Amino acid sequence: MNYHFLDLNNYDVADLERIIENSIQLKAKKKVSNVLEGKFLGLIFEKSSTRTRVSFEVAMTQLGGKASFLSVNDLQLGRGEPIEDTAIVLSSMVDGLVLRTLDHETQIKFSENSTVPVINGLSNKSHPCQLLADLLTFYEEKGSIKGRKVTWCGDFNNVCFSYAQAAELFDFDLWVACPEEYLPKEQLNFKNVTFTQSISEAVKNSDLISTDVWVSMGDENESQERIRVFKDYQVNESVLDQAKSEVLFLHCLPAVKGQEISPTLLDDPRSKVWKQAENRLHAQKGLLLELLG
Ligand code: CP
Ligand code: NVA
Repeated sequence: MNYHFLDLNNYDVADLERIIENSIQLKAKKKVSNVLEGKFLGLIFEKSSTRTRVSFEVAMTQLGGKASFLSVNDLQLGRGEPIEDTAIVLSSMVDGLVLRTLDHETQIKFSENSTVPVINGLSNKSHPCQLLADLLTFYEEKGSIKGRKVTWCGDFNNVCFSYAQAAELFDFDLWVACPEEYLPKEQLNFKNVTFTQSISEAVKNSDLISTDVWVSMGDENESQERIRVFKDYQVNESVLDQAKSEVLFLHCLPAVKGQEISPTLLDDPRSKVWKQAENRLHAQKGLLLELLG
């Protein structure tokens, strides 16, 4: 198994399934263990976070370890200390690091100089930790995702990229409904991924519909244009009605109600978004056990 967790496809599907299985077991036990006693996790975040930060901090505490949040503005990194030097020094002290970065290259450079596991807690390219929670939620609700039809509506962003990697690894069919101008320029060769501009085609017979904001962190200067281009890609109750009657709806959160989702969608019975958010904690525990245990 790869040392770092920068992208889902650094791992074999068997490793990922074991992480999800461990997450399920840890969730069922509902009790604190001391399996990571004496272990320390550092979190270096260049962007805001609610779920990722808190789930890692709580997960470490519940497994008997400790975590510390290191805002880039408080580190010497923010004043120009090289990434390589920061990685060498911090990894000589801590047992693992979670990075949330503007640029995915920062994570690669950091991991190449780190002697402890580096976990991608979101970059401009991908969000693999989110997929662990999404796959866990689907598994709990519907069983195996193999052979299922999964739909992504909206921006082909970091979360969608990790869905595309998951489609190949877990062998499900991902349909991405996204305006042509926002499709990935060089990455159209994903296995098991179909691109379309038709939401109806993408959601027909779907087992799982997922979406995310139209304006991700870092895209704020394109807000007006994105809101205009994506306006026909909203997921609402009538979009869910076109999928299988037992379709599941997920959203990584935070959501902008009235943009990518209708104002009432999170509380629709087909939405398992609150469970998905809680599952970030359980999935982080499964991952930490694998990497630091
Ligand atoms: N879904 C997710 O990563 O949320 P945060 O930005 O709050 O961490
Ligand atoms: N695509 C979003 C995900 C937030 C969890 C962003 O990058 O802002």
